[in-house]
Amino acid sequence: MQLFRQPSNSIHNKGWVHKNTLISGTIAVAALGGLGGIFFWRHHSTTPAAPATASVSVQADTVNNAHLLDGQWGYLPGSFRENDGVTIRAAQFAIVNQDGTGGQPNPAINIYGTHIEAASDIAVTAKMQNLHGPASVRLYGQLPVIADEFRVERKSVQATVDGSKLTVSLWDGKKQDPATTQQADIPGDVSDNRDLTISHQNGKFQFAIAGQQLIEISDSKVVSDGNVWFGFDATNTDWFLADLSATGLNGKTFKNVDASTEAITSTITDALQQLANKKRPDFTIGAAMALGPAVSDASYAQVALGGQFGAVTPENAMKWQFTEPVRGLYTFQEADALVSLAQRHNMKVQGHTLVFGEANPTWLQQLPADQLEQAMVDHIRITVDHFKGKIASWDVVNEPFDDDSWDELRPTIFYKAMGASYINKAFIAAHDADPNAQLFMNEYGLEEDGSRWDNFLAMVTKMKQDNVPIDGVGFQAHVYESGDKINPTVLRKHIQQLAAIGVKARISENDVYSEGGSTNQANEYRDVLNACLAEPNCISWTTWGVSDKYDYFKDDDGSIQTGEDFLWNDKLQPNKAVQAIQSILR
Ligand code: XIL
Repeated sequence: MQLFRQPSNSIHNKGWVHKNTLISGTIAVAALGGLGGIFFWRHHSTTPAAPATASVSVQADTVNNAHLLDGQWGYLPGSFRENDGVTIRAAQFAIVNQDGTGGQPNPAINIYGTHIEAASDIAVTAKMQNLHGPASVRLYGQLPVIADEFRVERKSVQATVDGSKLTVSLWDGKKQDPATTQQADIPGDVSDNRDLTISHQNGKFQFAIAGQQLIEISDSKVVSDGNVWFGFDATNTDWFLADLSATGLNGKTFKNVDASTEAITSTITDALQQLANKKRPDFTIGAAMALGPAVSDASYAQVALGGQFGAVTPENAMKWQFTEPVRGLYTFQEADALVSLAQRHNMKVQGHTLVFGEANPTWLQQLPADQLEQAMVDHIRITVDHFKGKIASWDVVNEPFDDDSWDELRPTIFYKAMGASYINKAFIAAHDADPNAQLFMNEYGLEEDGSRWDNFLAMVTKMKQDNVPIDGVGFQAHVYESGDKINPTVLRKHIQQLAAIGVKARISENDVYSEGGSTNQANEYRDVLNACLAEPNCISWTTWGVSDKYDYFKDDDGSIQTGEDFLWNDKLQPNKAVQAIQSILR
């Protein structure tokens, strides 16, 4: 028997513990059956990117076979961990179009949990049970980029079992649609249970049911980076994954790793949050983050989780279409993973967002108006309650003002159903669920003078007079293109106006276009942070991303682009803005 060491700051609340696993103090003994041997699950390290930093150094064991469900599956979106397997829920995950129609499928991936590394020649067998509709198993060689308006597919293969049909698709990382799709009949009777094996060797994927090979596809790219993550989908009905095993072929071995136990440690002394702690101990430096890069890209993780930031804002993972994709089916796993990741790196979490006109699931967009208030209040209560004690602040209402009229409330589904009263109702429901959470209204375009700001301030003033539980206002401070310059004097005045009515402020989503040059970009960042730092009621500054490597956005013409708006470039080197920010924090 061997031991694995549990990091002292790890969070156990979501972690599933095998019934044979004893946890005592910080040492656990794992003796898991199945292979007639012992399976070891170890604390894993990520390679340090810079000499000034260090990471945890215990390596995952190298094995030639493993029952992967013995690892961490508690964060697989839309799944339910049972004693003897995992139920894959028909959660209908989709990136919904803004008008509520259609959308892009967004099937779940076990990102914060078990995956394998150093996989070249490998066979993966899934015991699929209770099949009553299409059911998919997918191996990802690279994680997709998941935002709330699109999902950028990278390398993966998927096998879907549907009655007597096996369909396989291969995404090559270049196109969004599969580069190859093939179908075969599964011989024999239709069955509720199928053993599906996907193997890769000699530049080929082979797909077998009950050991009988049905499809072969040539490919030497999908798993060539050496990582395999596992994803599942249930189209119409839930199904049960009774076992998932991996075997090295041709004498090859692999590492069985668990992203939920990885931790970056840092020895940098001039990290942004550390500098802020000296200048204004109450001040938080935050960044928006997504789960994929944080657990799959070691150099990104060094910057994002290595001490620069004292808070994480989930960029998309807490938006409604991710957390309640079907009415009443709450899927907090991805958000839970980000919260766990933040806690394990001593970062706070800024909840984003409870009520927003965008990123809403189809069912909600199609709900009759007279049911909307109930759905909104349920969603707020259940979400805030779920994260109670773990989330210090919430963007309760995001972007209440209109893009077009600019100074009136946006005609969202909530506004259409409840009028302006939806805002007070949302804050009251959030406060009822967690009286200790700080409740914010978050908006863009508030940094300049004009009727948008006047009306916004009047609304917040009225809320305070009426004792609606609002604690603060988030200034998004997006600087998307030239002409978007933020005047720090005006911003500071607005922050002071909030102080005068007893309301806090924060900069919640600051990012700055780079076409004006890196010095201009640095100056813009510096000015916004300076305005906030100067006012005692302005309590934090958050930037809307960490590295240009993941600065994906959807352009007005619908195309997906990458920008250069963030503090670290696409090679994870600091842009000039980092120095500018360091210098004002010193
Ligand atoms: C953006 C995300 O960054 C993108 O990934 C997503 O595709 C669209 O939403 N204001 C907000 C954020 O409050 O939620 C938005 O985030 C950026 C603008």
